[in-house]
Amino acid sequence: MSKLFSQQLLEWHTKHGRHNLPWQIEKTPYRVWVSEIMLQQTQVTKVIPYFVRFIEAYPSPTAVALSQYDPVARLWAGLGYYRRVQYFWQSCCIIHDKYNGYVPTHPDILQQLPGIGRSTAHAIASISTNLAVPILDANVIRVLCRYHAFKEIPQKAASQRQLWQWAYTHMPTTQCSEYSQAIMDLGATVCSKT
Ligand code: ADE
Repeated sequence: MSKLFSQQLLEWHTKHGRHNLPWQIEKTPYRVWVSEIMLQQTQVTKVIPYFVRFIEAYPSPTAVALSQYDPVARLWAGLGYYRRVQYFWQSCCIIHDKYNGYVPTHPDILQQLPGIGRSTAHAIASISTNLAVPILDANVIRVLCRYHAFKEIPQKAASQRQLWQWAYTHMPTTQCSEYSQAIMDLGATVCSKT
């Protein structure tokens, strides 16, 4: 059953998923990280011009760290949820000071950075380095709840344990990057909120 789920999802994504988005063209950890933070609670179509402008102005964590905070924040104006740009700027300063300007790709290290939780750390690692670690954001939760006809409240601790378990069970060992994108696309476009 598990294998079938990921295979079917990957086939669906090849035919119907979103391809050639700006952050899918060159999947470096930095670009994937910027896109994942911008995409939190925000539609893909809204994010595209912000992402392109931001990467052009700040092509690396060092470029962000060497800038004042205000010009960085100005490029997020209009996206909402401004805590995320504060955390992002703080994280870039840590990466510049502690990791020689290289975005770490190990999920445990990523999760120590401000504003990066377990699911976002897994998104960055799986999409940019093909590591088999699953995402469990709101899109993925919807997909898993429907697939498993799960009726509990997803936020409850016991539900979270169950959902993470399913997320790991379905995660394939190859094509991890495509799979992560596929399950989020399905959640965002087909398996939408009722
Ligand atoms: N929401 C969060 N990350 C996303 C992604 N990579 N693609 C689509 N929706 C997302």
